[in-house]
Formats: sequence, C-alpha cells, structure tokens
Amino acid sequence: MYIKQASLRGFRNLGQLDMELKNGLNIFYGNNAQGKTNFLESLYVCAMGRSQRTRMDEQMVGFEEMESHIRLMIQKEYYVDRIDVHLKRQEKKGIAINGIPIRKSGELFGTLQVVIFSPEDLNLIKGGPSERRRFMDMEICQLSRIYYYDLQQYYRSLKQRNHLLKQIQNKPSLEDTLYPWDEQLAEFGGRIIRARREFLGKLNDISSKKQLSLTGGLDDLQIEYKPNCPEGIFFEKLRKNTKRDIVFGATQNGPHKDDMGFMIHGNDVKTYGSQGQQRITALSAKLAEIDLIEEETGQKPVLLLDDVLSELDEKRQNYLMEGISGMQSILTCTGIEDSVKKYVKDAFLFYVENGKIQRKWE
Ligand SMILES: Nc1ncnc2c1ncn2[C@@H]1O[C@H](COP(=O)(O)OP(=O)(O)O)[C@@H](O)[C@H]1O
Ligand SMILES: [Mg+2]
Repeated sequence: MYIKQASLRGFRNLGQLDMELKNGLNIFYGNNAQGKTNFLESLYVCAMGRSQRTRMDEQMVGFEEMESHIRLMIQKEYYVDRIDVHLKRQEKKGIAINGIPIRKSGELFGTLQVVIFSPEDLNLIKGGPSERRRFMDMEICQLSRIYYYDLQQYYRSLKQRNHLLKQIQNKPSLEDTLYPWDEQLAEFGGRIIRARREFLGKLNDISSKKQLSLTGGLDDLQIEYKPNCPEGIFFEKLRKNTKRDIVFGATQNGPHKDDMGFMIHGNDVKTYGSQGQQRITALSAKLAEIDLIEEETGQKPVLLLDDVLSELDEKRQNYLMEGISGMQSILTCTGIEDSVKKYVKDAFLFYVENGKIQRKWE
C-alpha cells in the first residue's frame, strides 16, 4: 500500500496543503521547526488514530484554527481507500473510512499500515516498561483488531476491579463480588499475554538477523518477553493475592505490568549497551517490524523516517536506505546526506519552510 495523496487543512503550522506522494522515496528537507515532523504526524494519525507525540488531539489543531482536517488516499493493490480525520478543539475527533464514520479507533487499524522511525525510538531501550508496552500494543494492534478489542476489555475490567478493591477496604463483605472480575481479567489478559508472546517470538527471530547485518556479525541480539505473570497461572495468582490487592486498592499482577528486554550476548542493552548499540538495537526492532507486517498481512507498510539518518554512521545509513527500497517511505532531514544523494533523482523532493511545503525538481 502507499499514500497517493495527502490534503491538510489547519493541521499545526501546515495550513492548506494538497500533494501527491510517490510510491517510493519522498524526501522532506528544511531547517528545524519548519513543519517536517508535523507532516509525518498527520500521516501517523491517519494510520493509528492518535499522534505519536501527544495524547491531546487539540494540540494538533493550528493555533489560529478551530478544527483541522486530514484526508489521505491510500492506494491498495486493486482499490483506493480514503481516510478522513477531523480534529476539533473541544470535541472528540471524527474518523471516517471511505466516507463512513467509525465509532472506535480500532476499526481504523489496517487501513494504513506504517512503521515510524524517529530519534525517540531510543526510549524503547532506555525508557521505562510503559514505553515498551506501548510499542508492543501499537504494533500488535496493526496486525490484529482482536488484540485491540482484548486490550480495551482488559483495561475496562481492570478499572472496575480496582474500583471494587477500594470499596472493599471500607466494606469487606463485598469481597465475594471480585470473582467475576477476576474471571474476566484472566480471560482477556490471558489472550493479551499469548499475543505478546507470539509477537515478540517472531520479532526476535527477525531482529536478531537485522542486528547481525547492522553490526557485521558482532551483536547477538535476543528480544525477550517478560510477562509479569504467565497466562496459565494468571487467574490463580489474582485469586491468591486478593488480600494484598485490597490493601493496595489496585491489582498488582497482570499484563498491565509486563515488560520486554533486549539482550546482547545475554546482557541487557538498557544497562550494559553503549549508546551506539542501543540505537542500533532500536533500529533492528523497527526494521524487523517492516518484515513482520509484510509477512502477516501481505502488505508492505509505509515508512515514516523522522530525522534518523543524521544519528547513524554512513555504513548504517546505506544499510537503512537499501532496506527501505521497494516501499513507500517519507523521510525528513535538514540537509541531504551523502547516503541519500544517489536516490534523489528517483525521489519526490519537498522543501519545507515555515509550514509551506514546496515540491522541488532537481
Ligand atoms: N498547533 C500548532 N499550530 C501552529 N503551529 C504549531 C502547532 N504546533 C506546533 N507548531 C509549530 O510547528 C513548528 C515545529 O514543527 P516540526 O514539524 O516539529 O518541526 P521540524 O521541521 O523541525 O520537524 C514549531 O514552530 C511550532 O511552533
Ligand atoms: Mg522534526
């Protein structure tokens, strides 16, 4: 799949914008703070139903605007899909696929598949467990709508159970009413744990090969799933620890506490890896995602590359550029690096300045 056309109205500083994109490399260059990441963000929102950098939709509405609108035409093998996202200052956003409004963001997954590369990918390694859970969740959601549904149900049940735990602190006789929530949590949670295990198993196989290529055979990378509680004993554990959970007024076990680890030669990259190793590990995981999406869905995702080349040495820049050929990619940079120069003549080139995007012909 690829994005054939993008139209924006009132999105951040980008104003009115209508453009054709190439099924291949698209380069957006310009100084800092001109709107390059904003443009990638508008595409990401159409894929995931939310921004990669904020939870607050109103931040994406242009300072002078009351609302903003993004429209993308997605070319699939035999047809075109249209995605419309309407962001408003006060109200919830509206999303429509081919003119039909959807009620839940989950229905959007799969219409446009993207893999985003950005300097913040390093947080996947260096950040806390919630960063890594978000990574797992966003990626698995792109592969399975059932997973999205299970996640929603799980978090809804978790909220109810935690609410009840607090009530029990004042009214112990309510303890018996926990049982059905434990059953629900174990059912949805069990499916989440299984899906994460499967996903990370596949991601590990591909990532370790990417890491070997990126390091000239040096780094043996293993990605490990670290479930807070294995699926087989989740229910039992909930039941066994009810007294403790009542004291905390919150559920202490479950996939909402999961983590994953990146190990090189058995050592955690987060603690023992160099900055360079951490960066390359994040890159391997992202590159693996591309292959995984293609394997699982039969579609090539669209790649969004936000200012990532400048952080890599030339050899890895070349590896990345070769790895993304054959797919649509939208790449931002401040200047055209040497590794990109040879691709320019076959690319669409756009100059970004103060929210205006101009096509350039070399
Ligand atoms: N809601 C908004 N409305 C108008 N301008 C915005 C909005 N949000 C951010 N900006 C502006 O966008 C610019 C940053 O754009 P960005 O795409 O992040 O830059 P870069 O080209 O470096 O990637 C800043 O000048 C900022 O003031
Ligand atoms: Mg930027």
